[in-house]
Amino acid sequence: MQRTICVDPPGDADKVRRNYAFLNPNGYVVAAMTTTLKQAPGRSYLAIPGPSVMPDAVLNAMHRGAPNIYAGELPDMMPDLMRDLRRVARTTHHVAMYIGNGHAAWEAALSNVIRPGDKVLVPATGRFAIGWGEMATDLGAQVEIMDFGRAAAMDLAQVAARLAEDKAHEIKAVLGVHVDTSSSVRNDIAGLRAVMDSCDHPALLMADCIASFACDRFEMDAWGVDVMVTACQKGLMVPPGLGFVFFNDRAEAARKALPRVSRYWDWSPRAHPQEFYQYHCGTAPTHHIYGLRTALDMIHAEGIEQVWQRHATLAGAVWAACEAWSTRGTLRINIEDRSLRSHAVTALRLQSPDATRLRDWVQGNLGLTLGIGLGMAAPGDAAWHGFFRLGHMGHVNGHMIMGLLGGVEAGMQALKIEHGDGALAAAAKAIAQGGGD
Ligand SMILES: Cc1ncc(COP(=O)(O)O)c(C=O)c1O
Repeated sequence: MQRTICVDPPGDADKVRRNYAFLNPNGYVVAAMTTTLKQAPGRSYLAIPGPSVMPDAVLNAMHRGAPNIYAGELPDMMPDLMRDLRRVARTTHHVAMYIGNGHAAWEAALSNVIRPGDKVLVPATGRFAIGWGEMATDLGAQVEIMDFGRAAAMDLAQVAARLAEDKAHEIKAVLGVHVDTSSSVRNDIAGLRAVMDSCDHPALLMADCIASFACDRFEMDAWGVDVMVTACQKGLMVPPGLGFVFFNDRAEAARKALPRVSRYWDWSPRAHPQEFYQYHCGTAPTHHIYGLRTALDMIHAEGIEQVWQRHATLAGAVWAACEAWSTRGTLRINIEDRSLRSHAVTALRLQSPDATRLRDWVQGNLGLTLGIGLGMAAPGDAAWHGFFRLGHMGHVNGHMIMGLLGGVEAGMQALKIEHGDGALAAAAKAIAQGGGD
Protein backbone atom coordinates (compact mmCIF):
# COMPACT_ATOMS: atom_id res chain seq x y z
CA MET A 1 0.00 0.00 0.00
CA GLN A 2 1.15 3.55 -0.72
CA ARG A 3 2.15 5.66 2.31
CA THR A 4 2.15 9.44 2.61
CA ILE A 5 4.69 11.20 4.81
CA CYS A 6 5.25 14.85 5.61
CA VAL A 7 8.81 15.81 4.65
CA ASP A 8 8.94 19.17 6.44
CA PRO A 9 11.04 19.60 9.57
CA PRO A 10 8.96 19.32 12.78
CA GLY A 11 7.53 22.42 14.45
CA ASP A 12 6.75 25.62 12.58
CA ALA A 13 3.10 25.84 13.58
CA ASP A 14 2.56 29.00 11.48
CA LYS A 15 3.42 27.23 8.24
CA VAL A 16 0.91 27.82 5.47
CA ARG A 17 2.12 25.14 3.08
CA ARG A 18 3.29 21.63 3.80
CA ASN A 19 5.23 19.24 1.58
CA TYR A 20 4.41 15.53 1.35
CA ALA A 21 5.98 12.54 -0.33
CA PHE A 22 4.14 9.39 -1.44
CA LEU A 23 6.07 6.18 -0.83
CA ASN A 24 5.42 2.84 -2.50
CA PRO A 25 5.43 -0.42 -0.44
CA ASN A 26 9.23 -0.60 -0.84
CA GLY A 27 9.65 2.86 0.65
CA TYR A 28 10.57 4.60 -2.61
CA VAL A 29 9.21 8.10 -3.27
CA VAL A 30 6.79 7.86 -6.17
CA ALA A 31 5.28 11.33 -6.06
CA ALA A 32 5.34 14.54 -4.06
CA MET A 33 2.74 17.11 -3.23
CA THR A 34 2.60 20.55 -1.67
CA THR A 35 -0.60 21.37 0.07
CA THR A 36 -1.94 24.59 1.42
CA LEU A 37 -2.80 23.94 5.03
CA LYS A 38 -5.20 26.75 5.44
CA GLN A 39 -7.29 27.71 2.46
CA ALA A 40 -9.36 30.72 3.43
CA PRO A 41 -12.88 30.45 2.02
CA GLY A 42 -14.31 33.25 -0.09
CA ARG A 43 -12.73 35.27 -2.88
CA SER A 44 -8.98 35.45 -2.59
CA TYR A 45 -7.17 38.72 -3.27
CA LEU A 46 -3.74 38.90 -4.87
CA ALA A 47 -2.34 42.22 -3.65
CA ILE A 48 1.13 41.79 -5.13
CA PRO A 49 2.56 44.40 -7.53
CA GLY A 50 1.91 42.36 -10.64
CA PRO A 51 0.51 40.29 -12.00
CA SER A 52 -2.43 42.30 -10.73
CA VAL A 53 -6.06 41.31 -10.22
CA MET A 54 -7.52 40.32 -13.59
CA PRO A 55 -11.05 41.59 -14.28
CA ASP A 56 -13.60 38.86 -15.03
CA ALA A 57 -14.45 40.74 -18.21
CA VAL A 58 -10.84 40.35 -19.41
CA LEU A 59 -10.73 36.66 -18.49
CA ASN A 60 -14.11 36.03 -20.10
CA ALA A 61 -12.99 37.74 -23.28
CA MET A 62 -10.03 35.35 -23.42
CA HIS A 63 -12.17 32.28 -22.77
CA ARG A 64 -12.95 31.22 -26.32
CA GLY A 65 -11.90 28.79 -28.98
CA ALA A 66 -8.93 29.56 -31.18
CA PRO A 67 -9.77 32.34 -33.62
CA ASN A 68 -8.67 32.47 -37.25
CA ILE A 69 -5.38 34.33 -37.57
CA TYR A 70 -5.60 34.78 -41.34
CA ALA A 71 -8.77 36.78 -41.79
CA GLY A 72 -11.72 38.19 -39.92
CA GLU A 73 -12.19 39.73 -36.51
CA LEU A 74 -8.72 39.24 -35.08
CA PRO A 75 -6.67 40.89 -37.84
CA ASP A 76 -9.33 43.56 -38.13
CA MET A 77 -8.97 44.41 -34.43
CA MET A 78 -5.32 45.36 -34.60
CA PRO A 79 -5.29 48.96 -35.87
CA ASP A 80 -7.77 50.12 -33.22
CA LEU A 81 -5.94 48.14 -30.54
CA MET A 82 -2.67 49.89 -31.38
CA ARG A 83 -4.41 53.26 -31.44
CA ASP A 84 -5.98 52.67 -28.04
CA LEU A 85 -2.66 51.58 -26.56
CA ARG A 86 -1.10 54.81 -27.81
CA ARG A 87 -3.90 56.74 -26.12
CA VAL A 88 -2.92 55.24 -22.76
CA ALA A 89 0.73 56.13 -23.39
CA ARG A 90 -0.27 59.65 -24.49
CA THR A 91 1.61 59.39 -27.72
CA THR A 92 0.74 59.84 -31.36
CA HIS A 93 3.89 58.00 -32.39
CA HIS A 94 4.60 54.30 -32.81
CA VAL A 95 4.07 51.12 -30.83
CA ALA A 96 5.40 47.59 -31.32
CA MET A 97 3.91 44.61 -29.49
CA TYR A 98 5.89 41.52 -28.45
CA ILE A 99 4.83 38.15 -27.08
CA GLY A 100 6.85 38.38 -23.88
CA ASN A 101 7.11 39.98 -20.48
CA GLY A 102 8.76 43.20 -19.34
CA HIS A 103 12.22 41.75 -19.85
CA ALA A 104 11.31 41.10 -23.48
CA ALA A 105 10.23 44.73 -23.87
CA TRP A 106 13.52 45.86 -22.27
CA GLU A 107 15.54 43.81 -24.73
CA ALA A 108 13.39 44.81 -27.69
CA ALA A 109 13.81 48.50 -26.93
CA LEU A 110 17.58 48.28 -26.46
CA SER A 111 18.05 46.11 -29.54
CA ASN A 112 16.54 48.78 -31.77
CA VAL A 113 18.66 51.74 -30.72
CA ILE A 114 21.86 50.56 -29.03
CA ARG A 115 24.88 49.05 -30.74
CA PRO A 116 27.71 47.20 -29.01
CA GLY A 117 30.13 49.71 -27.49
CA ASP A 118 27.55 52.49 -27.10
CA LYS A 119 27.53 54.27 -23.74
CA VAL A 120 24.33 54.10 -21.75
CA LEU A 121 23.64 56.03 -18.55
CA VAL A 122 21.37 54.42 -15.94
CA PRO A 123 20.24 56.52 -12.97
CA ALA A 124 19.02 53.72 -10.67
CA THR A 125 16.56 53.95 -7.77
CA GLY A 126 15.98 50.32 -6.88
CA ARG A 127 16.23 46.95 -8.52
CA PHE A 128 14.76 47.43 -11.95
CA ALA A 129 16.98 50.08 -13.53
CA ILE A 130 19.94 47.93 -12.57
CA GLY A 131 18.30 44.96 -14.28
CA TRP A 132 17.69 46.95 -17.45
CA GLY A 133 21.29 48.17 -17.33
CA GLU A 134 22.54 44.58 -16.94
CA MET A 135 20.59 43.65 -20.03
CA ALA A 136 22.22 46.52 -21.95
CA THR A 137 25.63 45.27 -20.77
CA ASP A 138 24.80 41.80 -22.06
CA LEU A 139 23.99 43.36 -25.42
CA GLY A 140 27.47 44.88 -25.51
CA ALA A 141 26.77 48.43 -24.31
CA GLN A 142 29.09 50.26 -21.91
CA VAL A 143 26.76 50.86 -19.03
CA GLU A 144 27.30 53.45 -16.32
CA ILE A 145 25.03 53.05 -13.31
CA MET A 146 24.40 56.07 -11.08
CA ASP A 147 22.99 54.35 -8.02
CA PHE A 148 20.71 56.52 -5.89
CA GLY A 149 19.98 53.70 -3.47
CA ARG A 150 16.80 51.88 -2.55
CA ALA A 151 14.82 54.61 -0.83
CA ALA A 152 15.26 57.76 -2.93
CA ALA A 153 14.38 59.16 -6.33
CA MET A 154 16.97 60.11 -8.94
CA ASP A 155 18.95 63.19 -8.02
CA LEU A 156 18.42 65.13 -11.23
CA ALA A 157 21.15 67.65 -10.43
CA GLN A 158 23.70 64.82 -10.34
CA VAL A 159 22.36 63.41 -13.60
CA ALA A 160 22.58 66.89 -15.16
CA ALA A 161 26.19 67.25 -14.00
CA ARG A 162 27.11 63.86 -15.47
CA LEU A 163 25.48 64.68 -18.81
CA ALA A 164 27.14 68.10 -18.92
CA GLU A 165 30.54 66.38 -18.52
CA ASP A 166 29.85 64.31 -21.61
CA LYS A 167 30.90 67.02 -24.05
CA ALA A 168 31.57 64.49 -26.83
CA HIS A 169 28.04 63.13 -26.47
CA GLU A 170 29.25 59.59 -26.07
CA ILE A 171 26.19 58.67 -24.01
CA LYS A 172 23.63 57.42 -26.49
CA ALA A 173 20.75 56.70 -24.14
CA VAL A 174 19.57 57.42 -20.62
CA LEU A 175 17.48 54.61 -19.10
CA GLY A 176 15.00 55.84 -16.51
CA VAL A 177 12.53 53.71 -14.57
CA HIS A 178 9.38 55.71 -13.92
CA VAL A 179 8.16 53.61 -10.98
CA ASP A 180 10.61 51.19 -9.42
CA THR A 181 8.48 48.32 -8.20
CA SER A 182 11.02 47.21 -5.59
CA SER A 183 11.47 50.54 -3.79
CA SER A 184 8.07 51.99 -4.88
CA VAL A 185 9.71 55.28 -5.75
CA ARG A 186 8.29 57.34 -8.61
CA ASN A 187 10.87 59.22 -10.63
CA ASP A 188 10.33 62.51 -12.41
CA ILE A 189 10.67 61.52 -16.06
CA ALA A 190 9.66 64.97 -17.34
CA GLY A 191 12.36 66.38 -15.06
CA LEU A 192 14.88 63.96 -16.53
CA ARG A 193 14.03 65.24 -20.01
CA ALA A 194 14.42 68.81 -18.74
CA VAL A 195 17.96 68.18 -17.47
CA MET A 196 18.89 66.48 -20.75
CA ASP A 197 17.58 69.49 -22.63
CA SER A 198 19.26 71.94 -20.27
CA CYS A 199 22.66 70.63 -21.34
CA ASP A 200 21.60 70.09 -24.95
CA HIS A 201 22.34 66.41 -24.66
CA PRO A 202 21.13 64.40 -27.66
CA ALA A 203 20.93 60.99 -25.92
CA LEU A 204 17.66 59.14 -26.24
CA LEU A 205 15.44 59.19 -23.17
CA MET A 206 14.17 55.66 -22.59
CA ALA A 207 11.57 55.09 -19.87
CA ASP A 208 10.42 51.90 -18.16
CA CYS A 209 6.71 52.28 -17.37
CA ILE A 210 6.13 48.63 -16.61
CA ALA A 211 4.82 49.36 -13.10
CA SER A 212 3.34 52.78 -13.77
CA PHE A 213 1.45 52.28 -17.04
CA ALA A 214 -2.25 53.06 -16.57
CA CYS A 215 -1.61 53.73 -12.86
CA ASP A 216 0.53 56.88 -12.57
CA ARG A 217 0.25 59.85 -14.92
CA PHE A 218 2.64 59.41 -17.80
CA GLU A 219 2.68 61.65 -20.89
CA MET A 220 5.08 60.23 -23.45
CA ASP A 221 4.95 63.03 -26.01
CA ALA A 222 4.50 65.98 -23.65
CA TRP A 223 7.38 64.75 -21.49
CA GLY A 224 9.68 64.20 -24.48
CA VAL A 225 10.23 60.48 -23.96
CA ASP A 226 11.81 58.84 -27.00
CA VAL A 227 11.28 55.19 -26.11
CA MET A 228 8.94 53.71 -23.52
CA VAL A 229 8.54 50.08 -22.50
CA THR A 230 5.69 48.45 -20.66
CA ALA A 231 3.92 45.12 -20.27
CA CYS A 232 0.34 43.94 -19.89
CA GLN A 233 0.21 42.33 -16.43
CA LYS A 234 -0.02 45.34 -14.14
CA GLY A 235 -2.06 48.46 -14.87
CA LEU A 236 -3.30 46.87 -18.10
CA MET A 237 -4.92 44.04 -16.09
CA VAL A 238 -4.16 41.28 -18.64
CA PRO A 239 -2.42 37.99 -17.76
CA PRO A 240 1.37 38.22 -18.32
CA GLY A 241 2.45 37.64 -21.89
CA LEU A 242 2.62 40.92 -23.83
CA GLY A 243 5.36 43.53 -23.83
CA PHE A 244 5.12 46.88 -25.64
CA VAL A 245 7.68 49.33 -26.94
CA PHE A 246 6.55 52.84 -27.84
CA PHE A 247 8.95 55.02 -29.82
CA ASN A 248 8.99 58.39 -31.50
CA ASP A 249 10.58 59.58 -34.73
CA ARG A 250 13.96 60.35 -33.11
CA ALA A 251 14.14 56.79 -31.87
CA GLU A 252 13.02 55.52 -35.25
CA ALA A 253 15.87 57.45 -36.86
CA ALA A 254 18.29 55.84 -34.39
CA ARG A 255 16.91 52.44 -35.36
CA LYS A 256 17.42 53.20 -39.05
CA ALA A 257 21.03 54.18 -38.38
CA LEU A 258 21.85 50.74 -36.95
CA PRO A 259 23.46 48.31 -39.39
CA ARG A 260 21.11 45.51 -38.31
CA VAL A 261 18.52 44.52 -35.75
CA SER A 262 17.53 40.91 -35.18
CA ARG A 263 14.48 39.87 -37.16
CA TYR A 264 12.49 39.11 -34.03
CA TRP A 265 13.24 42.29 -32.07
CA ASP A 266 13.05 44.69 -35.01
CA TRP A 267 10.26 47.08 -34.16
CA SER A 268 9.76 48.45 -37.72
CA PRO A 269 7.56 45.71 -39.23
CA ARG A 270 5.63 45.37 -35.98
CA ALA A 271 4.85 49.07 -35.84
CA HIS A 272 4.32 49.51 -39.59
CA PRO A 273 3.00 46.13 -40.75
CA GLN A 274 2.06 45.41 -44.36
CA GLU A 275 0.55 42.08 -43.29
CA PHE A 276 -1.14 40.94 -40.11
CA TYR A 277 1.59 38.42 -39.20
CA GLN A 278 4.14 41.24 -39.03
CA TYR A 279 2.53 42.72 -35.92
CA HIS A 280 3.82 39.71 -34.01
CA CYS A 281 6.60 38.33 -36.25
CA GLY A 282 4.64 35.09 -36.49
CA THR A 283 1.59 33.60 -34.81
CA ALA A 284 -0.44 36.22 -32.97
CA PRO A 285 -1.02 36.08 -29.19
CA THR A 286 -4.64 35.40 -30.07
CA HIS A 287 -6.29 35.26 -26.64
CA HIS A 288 -4.20 38.03 -25.17
CA ILE A 289 -5.41 40.30 -27.95
CA TYR A 290 -9.01 39.69 -26.88
CA GLY A 291 -8.12 40.27 -23.23
CA LEU A 292 -6.23 43.44 -24.06
CA ARG A 293 -9.12 44.72 -26.19
CA THR A 294 -11.43 44.41 -23.21
CA ALA A 295 -8.93 45.95 -20.80
CA LEU A 296 -8.45 48.95 -23.09
CA ASP A 297 -12.22 49.31 -23.42
CA MET A 298 -12.48 49.38 -19.63
CA ILE A 299 -9.68 51.94 -19.30
CA HIS A 300 -11.06 54.26 -21.95
CA ALA A 301 -14.64 53.90 -20.68
CA GLU A 302 -13.43 55.10 -17.28
CA GLY A 303 -11.12 57.65 -18.90
CA ILE A 304 -7.34 57.62 -18.42
CA GLU A 305 -7.44 60.79 -16.30
CA GLN A 306 -9.95 59.12 -13.98
CA VAL A 307 -7.88 55.91 -13.94
CA TRP A 308 -4.89 57.93 -12.74
CA GLN A 309 -7.08 59.78 -10.24
CA ARG A 310 -8.49 56.52 -8.84
CA HIS A 311 -4.99 55.18 -8.34
CA ALA A 312 -3.96 58.42 -6.62
CA THR A 313 -6.93 58.24 -4.24
CA LEU A 314 -6.41 54.57 -3.41
CA ALA A 315 -2.67 55.07 -2.94
CA GLY A 316 -3.54 57.94 -0.59
CA ALA A 317 -5.67 55.53 1.44
CA VAL A 318 -2.84 52.99 1.63
CA TRP A 319 -0.38 55.68 2.74
CA ALA A 320 -2.81 57.10 5.32
CA ALA A 321 -3.14 53.64 6.89
CA CYS A 322 0.60 52.91 6.76
CA GLU A 323 1.43 56.31 8.24
CA ALA A 324 -0.99 55.65 11.12
CA TRP A 325 0.46 52.17 11.74
CA SER A 326 3.97 53.57 11.71
CA THR A 327 3.30 55.90 14.66
CA ARG A 328 4.07 52.91 16.94
CA GLY A 329 6.13 49.78 16.42
CA THR A 330 8.48 49.09 13.52
CA LEU A 331 6.38 49.49 10.37
CA ARG A 332 7.92 52.02 7.97
CA ILE A 333 7.06 53.16 4.45
CA ASN A 334 10.16 52.83 2.29
CA ILE A 335 9.68 56.18 0.55
CA GLU A 336 9.13 58.92 3.09
CA ASP A 337 8.22 61.77 0.76
CA ARG A 338 4.63 61.39 -0.47
CA SER A 339 5.38 63.24 -3.70
CA LEU A 340 7.93 60.56 -4.63
CA ARG A 341 5.68 57.57 -3.99
CA SER A 342 4.18 55.39 -6.68
CA HIS A 343 0.40 55.14 -6.94
CA ALA A 344 0.68 51.47 -7.91
CA VAL A 345 2.79 49.82 -5.20
CA THR A 346 3.96 50.58 -1.67
CA ALA A 347 7.14 49.04 -0.26
CA LEU A 348 7.14 48.56 3.51
CA ARG A 349 9.41 47.38 6.29
CA LEU A 350 8.80 45.64 9.61
CA GLN A 351 11.20 44.16 12.07
CA SER A 352 12.34 40.82 10.62
CA PRO A 353 10.74 38.22 10.47
CA ASP A 354 7.41 40.01 10.98
CA ALA A 355 6.85 40.77 7.30
CA THR A 356 6.99 37.07 6.41
CA ARG A 357 4.86 36.14 9.42
CA LEU A 358 2.30 38.73 8.39
CA ARG A 359 2.26 37.60 4.76
CA ASP A 360 1.81 33.99 5.83
CA TRP A 361 -0.96 34.84 8.28
CA VAL A 362 -3.08 36.90 5.90
CA GLN A 363 -2.55 34.32 3.15
CA GLY A 364 -3.58 31.38 5.30
CA ASN A 365 -6.39 33.02 7.24
CA LEU A 366 -7.83 35.60 4.89
CA GLY A 367 -6.96 34.50 1.36
CA LEU A 368 -5.00 37.75 0.98
CA THR A 369 -1.60 37.56 -0.74
CA LEU A 370 0.85 40.39 -0.08
CA GLY A 371 4.00 41.03 -2.12
CA ILE A 372 7.41 39.91 -0.94
CA GLY A 373 10.11 42.53 -0.52
CA LEU A 374 12.28 42.73 -3.61
CA GLY A 375 15.89 43.78 -3.90
CA MET A 376 16.10 44.97 -0.30
CA ALA A 377 17.92 41.97 1.18
CA ALA A 378 19.21 38.70 -0.23
CA PRO A 379 16.74 35.79 0.14
CA GLY A 380 19.14 33.91 2.45
CA ASP A 381 19.57 36.92 4.74
CA ALA A 382 17.40 37.07 7.88
CA ALA A 383 16.65 40.71 7.00
CA TRP A 384 14.72 39.47 3.94
CA HIS A 385 11.80 38.60 6.24
CA GLY A 386 11.40 42.25 7.21
CA PHE A 387 10.27 43.57 3.81
CA PHE A 388 6.95 43.36 2.00
CA ARG A 389 4.95 45.26 -0.56
CA LEU A 390 1.32 46.10 -1.22
CA GLY A 391 0.20 46.15 -4.83
CA HIS A 392 -2.64 48.58 -5.56
CA MET A 393 -2.60 48.66 -9.33
CA GLY A 394 -5.10 48.03 -12.09
CA HIS A 395 -8.47 46.50 -11.30
CA VAL A 396 -8.79 47.86 -7.75
CA ASN A 397 -11.39 49.96 -5.98
CA GLY A 398 -12.09 51.40 -2.55
CA HIS A 399 -13.63 48.33 -0.96
CA MET A 400 -10.76 46.13 -2.14
CA ILE A 401 -8.22 48.53 -0.67
CA MET A 402 -10.18 48.74 2.61
CA GLY A 403 -10.21 44.91 2.63
CA LEU A 404 -6.47 44.80 1.99
CA LEU A 405 -5.75 47.26 4.77
CA GLY A 406 -8.22 45.60 7.14
CA GLY A 407 -6.52 42.28 6.45
CA VAL A 408 -3.10 43.70 7.26
CA GLU A 409 -4.46 45.24 10.45
CA ALA A 410 -6.08 41.93 11.48
CA GLY A 411 -2.81 40.14 10.81
CA MET A 412 -0.82 42.57 12.92
CA GLN A 413 -3.31 42.20 15.76
CA ALA A 414 -3.32 38.40 15.56
CA LEU A 415 0.48 38.25 15.52
CA LYS A 416 0.85 40.97 18.17
CA ILE A 417 2.93 43.12 15.85
CA GLU A 418 2.92 46.52 17.50
CA HIS A 419 1.35 49.26 15.39
CA GLY A 420 -0.30 52.66 15.72
CA ASP A 421 -4.09 53.14 15.88
CA GLY A 422 -6.56 54.73 13.50
CA ALA A 423 -5.24 53.30 10.24
CA LEU A 424 -8.54 52.12 8.83
CA ALA A 425 -10.32 55.34 9.76
CA ALA A 426 -7.55 57.32 8.09
CA ALA A 427 -7.83 55.18 4.95
CA ALA A 428 -11.61 55.52 4.87
CA LYS A 429 -11.26 59.28 5.18
CA ALA A 430 -8.79 59.39 2.28
CA ILE A 431 -11.23 57.45 0.11
CA ALA A 432 -14.21 59.53 1.23
CA GLN A 433 -12.41 62.76 0.41
CA GLY A 434 -11.13 61.51 -2.95
CA GLY A 435 -8.30 63.49 -4.47
CA GLY A 436 -4.75 62.26 -4.23
CA ASP A 437 -1.33 63.40 -3.10
C1 LIG B 1 9.56 48.44 -13.19
C2 LIG B 1 9.72 47.05 -13.75
N1 LIG B 1 10.54 46.86 -14.78
C3 LIG B 1 10.72 45.64 -15.32
C4 LIG B 1 10.07 44.53 -14.82
C5 LIG B 1 10.30 43.20 -15.43
O1 LIG B 1 9.10 42.74 -15.99
P1 LIG B 1 8.82 41.19 -16.18
O2 LIG B 1 8.89 40.56 -14.84
O3 LIG B 1 7.45 41.16 -16.79
O4 LIG B 1 9.84 40.67 -17.11
C6 LIG B 1 9.21 44.69 -13.74
C7 LIG B 1 8.52 43.53 -13.15
O5 LIG B 1 7.90 43.57 -12.13
C8 LIG B 1 9.03 45.98 -13.19
O6 LIG B 1 8.20 46.17 -12.16
